[in-house]
Amino acid sequence: MPDDRTSSLDPASPEFQARRAAARRELDAIDPAMQSDAQADPLRRAWFEAVYARAENDPARVPWANLVPHPLTKSWIGLQARGIAGLRVLDVGCGLGDNAECFARAGAAVTAFDLVPAAVAWAQDRFPQTKVTYCAADVFAAPEAWRHGFDLVHECYTLQALAVELLPKALATLRSLLAPGGRLLLVARARDEDTQESGPPWPLPPSIFAEAERQGLTPLAIEDIATTAEITRRHWRALLARSEDL
Ligand SMILES: C[S@@+](CC[C@H](N)C(=O)[O-])C[C@H]1O[C@@H](n2cnc3c(N)ncnc32)[C@H](O)[C@@H]1O
Repeated sequence: MPDDRTSSLDPASPEFQARRAAARRELDAIDPAMQSDAQADPLRRAWFEAVYARAENDPARVPWANLVPHPLTKSWIGLQARGIAGLRVLDVGCGLGDNAECFARAGAAVTAFDLVPAAVAWAQDRFPQTKVTYCAADVFAAPEAWRHGFDLVHECYTLQALAVELLPKALATLRSLLAPGGRLLLVARARDEDTQESGPPWPLPPSIFAEAERQGLTPLAIEDIATTAEITRRHWRALLARSEDL
């Protein structure tokens, strides 16, 4: 952990940004997805574990940790006329927990999980009074008890961190976690179909929604959000329902 906590834990500070940039270089150098390694584990489990282990409790060294809820998630919660109090919410790939905590503050009953146990432990450490149920789990091996168990499944930046060949199965799994009438809220970076962007992360093309339909998820709303001062890249924010419910 850096010495000067006041300034250096501010994601906007130059110190924080410098540590993040250095970590990013180191992490890219060991990311199998950056090496075209044919033998690589498509889940990149070892890499995600390395991110949290190498960070040594410095959030600047976790490339996606901004220590606040994602603005598109937070504003979506604020837009729900009937609120989300009492909803059973599952946060997928929760990282350091800011999004999960945002749902919990709005009164939802939140379960949040991450592939990496160290991420879960860190989130619990950051929020000692939490009402969120945190646990370590792989979305591709989700506990059977979660099946059809959630009114809202939220994923922010986890699909875009997955190898493209894993996306159909990931979508099918997220669908299987929805209770009847449940919704999937997706927040991800966006790209045009015909532009390639090197990754990871891999911004999602519009065809992700056709794939979602094939996996039994019908989009109810797809927002294509342009770059703003707050959101520095184009994003999707989409709400999907189980096709059989419509
Ligand atoms: C890009 S980060 C986003 C974290 C968080 N959602 C956020 O917005 O800050 C992706 C997270 O998904 C987790 N993850 C990757 N593969 C996963 C899997 N198969 N199952 C569950 N979590 C996974 C990673 O460990 C990482 O914490």
